[in-house]
Amino acid sequence: MVDFRGKDILDGAQFTREELEYIMNVAADMRERLEKHRSLDLMRGYILGALFFEPSTRTRLSFETAMHRLGGSVVGFASAGVSSSAKGESLADTIRNVDQYVDVIAMRHPQIGSARIAAEVAEAPVLNGGDGAGQHPTQALLDLFTIRSERGQVDGNTIVLCGDLKYGRTVHAGVELYKHYDCKLIFVAPDELKMSPEITARLREHGVQVEETTDLEAAMAEATVLYMTRIQKERFEDPAEYKRLKGSYILTREMVERVNPGLTIMHPLPRVDEIATDVDDLPGAAYFRQARNGVYTRMALIALVMGRV
Ligand code: NCD
Repeated sequence: MVDFRGKDILDGAQFTREELEYIMNVAADMRERLEKHRSLDLMRGYILGALFFEPSTRTRLSFETAMHRLGGSVVGFASAGVSSSAKGESLADTIRNVDQYVDVIAMRHPQIGSARIAAEVAEAPVLNGGDGAGQHPTQALLDLFTIRSERGQVDGNTIVLCGDLKYGRTVHAGVELYKHYDCKLIFVAPDELKMSPEITARLREHGVQVEETTDLEAAMAEATVLYMTRIQKERFEDPAEYKRLKGSYILTREMVERVNPGLTIMHPLPRVDEIATDVDDLPGAAYFRQARNGVYTRMALIALVMGRV
């Protein structure tokens, strides 16, 4: 029995396969309903608190859009500088306070583990929209939903994760979902930005086929899905190191057409330079559809944790 009522969404590792399938089915249902109606009535009278202590475009706006499309409303802030954390208020106090106002909280914060701290003090369900270099489970869920939508099913795919696998929270959350499916994973990263050996070892123990390489074209040749990521500039202590690693992998249209024209290309966005803009109008370039799927997935999550589906 799948029951998300009152639950927090904190970490990709919290889900069973059955739960993942259920969330994707609800997201597909939301998509269908939005194709018929501009908005729904499901969350009328409910309020989402969108607390973003770190920059965001898609995650915040798609959470807000999701709540509005569900018929609910939103309060919140889009930067730590305009909240009382600028006056020295602790995260726990800010959350405890907002918890007095709202029914559900979506948050992003630069510190790993911050969403868990929030969940401990809040009565309202907390949806983690990114905690530093830690986790980003709602993004991972919309990524999974995008793979299912683009490829017909998740099982049977060979997924290349390329770029900053050390600091990228979307891939940290993503692998925890892919491990429930019959997928092969290929990690492509510069040596300095490899997926942590603990995560790779844990996936292998779980029975997942994982390969690591620095050769993007070789990985692309056998892939069905290529998931590109941005080098996470804001996580580097040394700006010179960022400058050296930036531009490590740049996907061009020529590469896709030559190596594997059938590839589904994803990216959580924002992109910097890791996908050339001439890739955008290839049929397999799915990243803007992926962003749209964020609304359906977040509608599903909000409605599920509030017990409205
Ligand atoms: C990602 C994030 O914030 O981790 N963006 C997003 O939520 N779509 C990826 C990134 O910033 O590189």
